[in-house]
Amino acid sequence: MGAGAESAAPATLDNVHVKSSYARWAPVYDLVFSLIMRAGRLAAVAAADRPMGRVLDVGVGTGLELPMFDERTRLVGVDLCEPMLRQAQRRVIGKSLRNVDGLLVMDATRLAFPDASFDAVVAPYVLTVVPDPHAMLDELLRVVKPGGEIVLVNHVGAETGIIAKLEAWLGKRSAHLGWRPQFQWSVLGGWIDARPAARLLERRALAPFGLFTLARLKKA
Ligand SMILES: C[S@@+](CC[C@H](N)C(=O)[O-])C[C@H]1O[C@@H](n2cnc3c(N)ncnc32)[C@H](O)[C@@H]1O
Repeated sequence: MGAGAESAAPATLDNVHVKSSYARWAPVYDLVFSLIMRAGRLAAVAAADRPMGRVLDVGVGTGLELPMFDERTRLVGVDLCEPMLRQAQRRVIGKSLRNVDGLLVMDATRLAFPDASFDAVVAPYVLTVVPDPHAMLDELLRVVKPGGEIVLVNHVGAETGIIAKLEAWLGKRSAHLGWRPQFQWSVLGGWIDARPAARLLERRALAPFGLFTLARLKKA
């Protein structure tokens, strides 16, 4: 992206900037984010794994979590960014992951699956990246089967103090960062409160340093 385009970029996230941001990250994503976010992926997969069942991985990225699933779990991964998906495809081939049924370019806020298609839906580190998180959550709730789970891992922003100030400053650069550092729990909590079909099963701080939060939701 040229300097002119950067200065014209909005402070808030939009799909065009999310796509271009992750296209730039794709070649080095694993190097930078594999280890630091590994605990969250493992926790998300442990909660969402459904041997003999069907799981949708939303915002699958380079597919770092795919080999963590039981080989009897049928997986479909979707992502907005094609270069990220190409890395995921390489991983699937390199690791002979025969339980991955598809990796598809798709917007999490407009999923092309019928209602109640999956036993569980997992989205590690995605909700804070999507411009309209409530639209994404509505779609996850739609495509998961009744009784199924939605498993999310995200950084939840500090409410007060120096970290909150730093996140507010970084928040003005969301479009370039490709994520929203200021994401508050109330975005998710408010959505759950307004959806009788969604129940919070668990909210847990994760390593490293409680920086990330796992949320498990059940569809009634
Ligand atoms: C921080 S990465 C997480 C990738 C992977 N889940 C992991 O744990 O490493 C966020 C991913 O969400 C994808 N993404 C962002 N907005 C999206 C949207 N609206 N629909 C689908 N994927 C999206 C990005 O392209 C990126 O691959």
